[in-house]
Amino acid sequence: MLLSRDAQSAQPVAIQREDYAPPAYWIDTVDLCFDLDPAKTRVLNRMKMRRNPEVAAQPLRLDGDELNLARVLVNGQGAAFRMEGSQLVIDGLPDDFELEIFTTCCPAKNTKLMGLFVSQNTFFTQCEAEGFRRITYFLDRPDVMASYIVTLRADKAAYPVLLSNGNLVEEGELPEGRHFAKWVDPFKKPAYLFALVAGKLVAREQRIKARNGREHLLQVYVRAGDLDKTEHAMNSLIHSVLWDEARFGLPLDLDRFMIVATSDFNMGAMENKGLNIFNTKYVLASQATATDADYANIESVVGHEYFHNWSGDRVTCRDWFQLSLKEGLTVFRDQEFSMDLCAEPSARAVKRIEDVRVLRTAQFPEDAGPMAHPVRPDSYIEISNFYTVTIYEKGAEVVRMMQTLVGREGFARGMTLYFERHDGQAVTCDDFAQAIADANPDSELARRLPQFKRWYSQAGTPRLAATGHYDAEARTYTLAFSQSCPPTPGQSVKEPFVIPVALGLLGADGRALPLQLEGAAQPAGESLTLVLHEAEQRFTFTGVDEAPVPSILRGFSAPVVLQFDYTREQLLALLAHDTDPFNRWEAAQRLALGAALAAIGDDTRAPDAPVLDEALIAAMREVLRHPTLDAAFKELVLSLPSEVYIAEQLDVVDPQRVHRVREAMRTQLATALFAEWQQAYEDNKDTGAYRPEPVSAGRRALAGMALANLCIAARESGDTVWPGKTLQRFKDASNMTDRFNALTALVVAGHPLAAQALARFHAMFKDEALVIDKWFGLQASAPDRDGDVLPLVKQLTRHADFSIKNPNRARSVIFSYCNANPGAFHRLDAAGYVWWSDRVIELDEINPQVAARLARALDRWSKLAEPYRSAAREAIARVAARPGLSKDTLEVVSRALAP
Ligand code: TRP
Ligand code: ZN
Repeated sequence: MLLSRDAQSAQPVAIQREDYAPPAYWIDTVDLCFDLDPAKTRVLNRMKMRRNPEVAAQPLRLDGDELNLARVLVNGQGAAFRMEGSQLVIDGLPDDFELEIFTTCCPAKNTKLMGLFVSQNTFFTQCEAEGFRRITYFLDRPDVMASYIVTLRADKAAYPVLLSNGNLVEEGELPEGRHFAKWVDPFKKPAYLFALVAGKLVAREQRIKARNGREHLLQVYVRAGDLDKTEHAMNSLIHSVLWDEARFGLPLDLDRFMIVATSDFNMGAMENKGLNIFNTKYVLASQATATDADYANIESVVGHEYFHNWSGDRVTCRDWFQLSLKEGLTVFRDQEFSMDLCAEPSARAVKRIEDVRVLRTAQFPEDAGPMAHPVRPDSYIEISNFYTVTIYEKGAEVVRMMQTLVGREGFARGMTLYFERHDGQAVTCDDFAQAIADANPDSELARRLPQFKRWYSQAGTPRLAATGHYDAEARTYTLAFSQSCPPTPGQSVKEPFVIPVALGLLGADGRALPLQLEGAAQPAGESLTLVLHEAEQRFTFTGVDEAPVPSILRGFSAPVVLQFDYTREQLLALLAHDTDPFNRWEAAQRLALGAALAAIGDDTRAPDAPVLDEALIAAMREVLRHPTLDAAFKELVLSLPSEVYIAEQLDVVDPQRVHRVREAMRTQLATALFAEWQQAYEDNKDTGAYRPEPVSAGRRALAGMALANLCIAARESGDTVWPGKTLQRFKDASNMTDRFNALTALVVAGHPLAAQALARFHAMFKDEALVIDKWFGLQASAPDRDGDVLPLVKQLTRHADFSIKNPNRARSVIFSYCNANPGAFHRLDAAGYVWWSDRVIELDEINPQVAARLARALDRWSKLAEPYRSAAREAIARVAARPGLSKDTLEVVSRALAP
């Protein structure tokens, strides 16, 4: 269509948060009728609308995208309308009217996977954020909430199951082998929560009674062969329903709650009211095909989407700048859910460490790069680009800080007030913070709310510098803090944040010291939370009998970079004795990071020179041997900081140097602790009948890590016993975690047996798409040896099982290489970058959302050392110069190139 081409060639415009205006019209009811056909689906949309009396009279502008418009009727009469770009505009409307719009679209050709699309002969929709406009002309904005009645008609043999939001009220036969189903959603909702599914599906069903006595039908829909992989998703859903009621008093409000899985999906899952649609990756699991990590992810994502039923669906966002209102809160809720399901306190701590690791390896770099944006952004070109780790993970940390400031019970009270006030509304981040504060009027949050809300408005990761001074004579210990925040694009000046700092003090023998703050009436026990709010602040502890080791930012109580000049002895003491598991782990990370940075900065260093000193190796040995620490925690402590995390600490990054140093550290740990790795493997290799729960999962993780180290050590010593044992373990394994860990050990060590194991793995699982994704991903993320990974990756994209159109498969090869394998991607000959730019361009024509994610692989190009820096810039410029680029990808590369 000419019009849409015009719209495409126009300069993309940035949408500004400040420009928000309420809608000029409301839509009260929507009656949708679909005649489903892959090549040409007909959509009849009848809306009851009225003018918004609070807004000056103006024409009605409906959003549309790639629709074929056949008819527009106002109150049953043909009406005059015009097209302005992709919008349908109608003038001279009465105050109340019925609008009928008839359009068609082509789901079979919808490779963007937004709107109505076909995946494996099944129809699915994806409407968040702005996909509904690809189904019909509409006021496609979240503050327009309507009641939906949906009729689906389709060929009965090809599409026996017809689903939409809410309750099934009618179904029956139609002529010519077709049938219909009519669904009514009892709740008003914004268009982005609309969904339909039609195809050959089967369901696992479970009837449950909620704590409040109400009965519900839970269903998990999949393709016929996958039913045996839905038990864990169903259990996760049941736990979610019970948890939200127990922890926050939020019950399931529907008779029927459905989850449907599709293998073609842009993201993880989607919280459509009563009809969640999931990437198969976050539904399907059997012990033969899914790892412990998969099981844990399924639990989190099922929880996440279910929790959206309140935090997202019942109370939604006024506009897309408020995205973190639902996403940050819901991530916080799914994190708490997973922690509460842990039987052991140590498993809770492990979960927290894992969440912080994601934040620091993905969000901190985002906050320091060209795409940096506040948790509540001020402008965007394409909203799909803002489903980021900042909105999700940093947003969750902001909610977590609120809970820290008002206490767990106070936070639950705040949640209750939030839902009391705003049920059925589309609201803002301010409304949320206000409710939490109002429910806790005597809290630090309420006292400092405007300042606290800088966490929503200021981008960038704050630096918290601390120094400690012990005065032996006065028996005082003074901690001086100063905070700052580096500038980010469009924000050069930052005001101080409210930063909760949980801390404790340790004595020389590792004992926790009692805390008495100067001027405080009461002693504070062994841990307390200081609330910083000025650029510089100091705190003095009295009655301190010895120079203490401070354990600062316990549990990672704020998303900041803590700068404290710990001595090695202090870190070793924290690693050995801190009662806070997070800081205990953090001490080991700091030690390893310090060693890595020293080696990277040492120009005289021989390539194979050791990186870790004896004391650190001894400390690691102690952890590995420790009689009471649990396996999952040991595995985390023994995991070296990632190349990405190390690179983030440097001003100028030579990725090859980082890679070599980290590989050297790994080899050193593998060989120096050989005996301990053997012992750890023997102690943890048998975990009995498979159960996906954190304690045995931790043992499998540690056994897997041990095997990888034993294979690396074998490579150095020429030993063949451990690689042979590893291959045997790979063959004999009774679950995917053990099997995949053994395979990974051979691949990571670069052992010749890896080829054989990979071939066997592919043959075993050729019909399991999610397992084949792992097979691709493992090879594309394997440690580089003399540039061997890029040729392999190119070969993988020519494999019969590869398809760039399937997002999971594209991610398993292309993203694993470009985003998760820096040592292989950053090549002196720039061939990785050239290949990346070709893939971004190729993907952009198929699926702009996925392309734009890939486009971010070189976000941090300006930190690179030459020649990488210039070559990376050139590759980005090459993408940016491509005519007809989507606004998704254009926004990412333009920001990357902005001065
Ligand atoms: N709202 C979804 C979530 O819970 C994610 C989402 C946003 C999404 N946009 C999407 C999923 C597009 C698939 C496609 O996090
Ligand atoms: Zn979400």
